[in-house]
Amino acid sequence: MKHISVLLDETLNGLSIQPTGTYVDATLGGGGHAAGILSRLTSGKLLGFDQDLFALEQTKVRLGEYHNKVELIHANFSQLQVELATRHIQQVDGIVMDIGVSSFQLDDPARGFSYHHDAPLDMRMDPTQALTAAEIVNTYEADQLKTLFTTGEVPFTNRLVEEILRVRAVQPISTTFELVDVVQSVAPRVEKQKRHPARLVFQALRLETNQELLVLSQAIEQALTLLRIGGRLAIITFHSLEDRIVKQAFVKASSLDIPQGVPIATKGMQADFKLITKKPIVPSANELSTNPRAKSAKLRIIERVQ
Ligand SMILES: C[S@@+](CC[C@H](N)C(=O)[O-])C[C@H]1O[C@@H](n2cnc3c(N)ncnc32)[C@H](O)[C@@H]1O
Repeated sequence: MKHISVLLDETLNGLSIQPTGTYVDATLGGGGHAAGILSRLTSGKLLGFDQDLFALEQTKVRLGEYHNKVELIHANFSQLQVELATRHIQQVDGIVMDIGVSSFQLDDPARGFSYHHDAPLDMRMDPTQALTAAEIVNTYEADQLKTLFTTGEVPFTNRLVEEILRVRAVQPISTTFELVDVVQSVAPRVEKQKRHPARLVFQALRLETNQELLVLSQAIEQALTLLRIGGRLAIITFHSLEDRIVKQAFVKASSLDIPQGVPIATKGMQADFKLITKKPIVPSANELSTNPRAKSAKLRIIERVQ
């Protein structure tokens, strides 16, 4: 198993790394982006987060040669500010977030992320967390299930929720393949022709299990506050809902907040942040040919200017 880092050069160049700076990798995963940052640091340092202890253990080995420049932190990136404050760090020169699951997680049958492997319906990125995908499927009210699948853009949400309720009344849905069977039984043929019908269902459940949209919004807010002038935040997303959150947060931060009563922006007024990427950077054809999983990746970068 190997995780191939997505948009690696684009991200490292986009961060405009200062060799003496302090950096955060909020999603260490296989440590590819972290290793790239560390290789460009002299006296600088990197704080690396992951909520998955297994990922941290593996990355610790990979980043061994940089052990005096790196600190690994087992925490959700929604705790960014608190974790940095604990270490007396108020400002940093750059932050990278590569949102979602790593190939280690996706390809490990036991984690329950994949509809290709039969496994307990788990999907927790942090295995110490209580809520699992199985609990969501078997205990959420119909309205809650409808909201989460509609948000995840599952086109046959109503039929899916009805079938989940019917099946779970007989016996809990506790494995990935049991859920795939439910999905297959209700997915329209046209959906099956477009893609695996469980793809969006599993993605929606994963987002809910790990509260991914909520923690992303929280983390962006904190990351923007932590950047020093000239510091950059680079975020890679793989889902349109996540990209929308990043895009809207970046547009807001880079727009002038004109106080009420001031008719127009006066000369010299500028926003605290500047968009480095007006349009998201996407993988090249060359990258896609070696790593098809990069397909939906989008990279957006913003810089604090004052
Ligand atoms: C796509 S992988 C990162 C891959 C990495 N950039 C590389 O080059 O190897 C995402 C990682 O972020 C972690 N992760 C996702 N959401 C997180 C969160 N809210 N807090 C902390 N870690 C998170 C996952 O556990 C996973 O290991």
